[in-house]
Amino acid sequence: VIETVTARRIIDSRGNPTVEVDVVLAGGALGRAAVPSGASTGAREAVELRDGDPARWHGRGVDRAVAHVNGEIAAAVRGRDATDQAGLDAVLVELDGTATKSRLGANAILGVSLAAAKAAAAACGQPLYRYLGGAEATLLPLPMMNIVNGGAHADNPLDFQEFMIAPVGADTFAEAVRMGSEVFHTLRRDLLAAGHATGVGDEGGFAPALRTAEEALDFVVAAIERTGYRPGTDLGLVMDPASSEFFHDGVYVYAGEGVRRTPAEHADYLTGLVDAYPIVSIEDPMAEHDLTGWRELTARIGDRCQLTGDDVFCTNETLLREGIRTGVGNSVLVKVNQIGTLTEALATVAAAHQAGWTAVMSHRSGETEDTTIADLAVATGCGQLKTGSLSRSDRTAKYNQLIRIEEELGDAARYAGRAVPRRA
Ligand code: PGA
Ligand code: ZN
Repeated sequence: VIETVTARRIIDSRGNPTVEVDVVLAGGALGRAAVPSGASTGAREAVELRDGDPARWHGRGVDRAVAHVNGEIAAAVRGRDATDQAGLDAVLVELDGTATKSRLGANAILGVSLAAAKAAAAACGQPLYRYLGGAEATLLPLPMMNIVNGGAHADNPLDFQEFMIAPVGADTFAEAVRMGSEVFHTLRRDLLAAGHATGVGDEGGFAPALRTAEEALDFVVAAIERTGYRPGTDLGLVMDPASSEFFHDGVYVYAGEGVRRTPAEHADYLTGLVDAYPIVSIEDPMAEHDLTGWRELTARIGDRCQLTGDDVFCTNETLLREGIRTGVGNSVLVKVNQIGTLTEALATVAAAHQAGWTAVMSHRSGETEDTTIADLAVATGCGQLKTGSLSRSDRTAKYNQLIRIEEELGDAARYAGRAVPRRA
């Protein structure tokens, strides 16, 4: 049973404050979880409670969320069975009392939800992925490694937010990391040789002053080839344009490139990229408020490209079910802090799988050293994980955790590789 719940303010990978929670059980088992934070957020995400005092942390303080954990939430969950995750999360949701967790804060609630799961796993003497996923949790995810950053994650003119490589041809997760790292370093040399800056963005990918998606994709394809790999066969390409970010008044405004595209032109443009490059998956190809565009693009290229909804679903099971019903994409991105409890995030993955959709476990652009999502990727068997580049410890910590998990599973470990995205 839960004995103490303690929250504190720590800082995330962007130097902003965030919530960390310790849950200690009666037997002494400790679970600790830190809450991530997004920059290009969906409109219907659970509410991240910020203090809003401009004199402190530029308004981004989380003292109220921390106080809610240490006060109201701790009082409500003390004495509860930590192994009853669904029951605990239901108490948290009910205590908050709002549809968007805006009263206590999704950052307060999620910290407790994840820390409780980790404490329960520790008490059972099991790693988190096995505690949550059972003995069949043996699938290591295909990593989508974000090696060029743009959009809201960098200060360059690149309109699209993320350009990723996915080592579909690796035999093991550890080999996937080696392949990704090698391409990352080749890309660095290539960018340098072309006179570009090699500083990195929020998710650890390079942030060169490129203007178009083609320029970025050409650099990535060339880096794959120059490292000795075959684009598409060994490493597939993945993009997250984060299209909601530049959809204004019904038009996609490519500010860096200096053009405007109607939804139809934007879809034509993306289709052309899928035709020209070995792109296996696109996240948020259309804006969250352009559902017509989403449906049309899904009908057009959904059979040959995974189309993953991030902003459009916000890890919300209800929104996802509506999207499944109406043909909005064929895959869902899962960010635990978009919904605010572990139980609800797992329900979203289950709903996707039940419909024959894929699910992609994901970090946020603001992360910490917490590696919970690595375990969740294995626990759910979703087979795909997006957690940034091959630099910045907030990103590599997740890869390193998966290397450990793969080693621990030994012969039982399987690597998702080409099996997902299954539409590729
Ligand atoms: P965010 O972006 O964490 O800044 O919201 C990540 C994404 O759009 O996938
Ligand atoms: Zn996204």
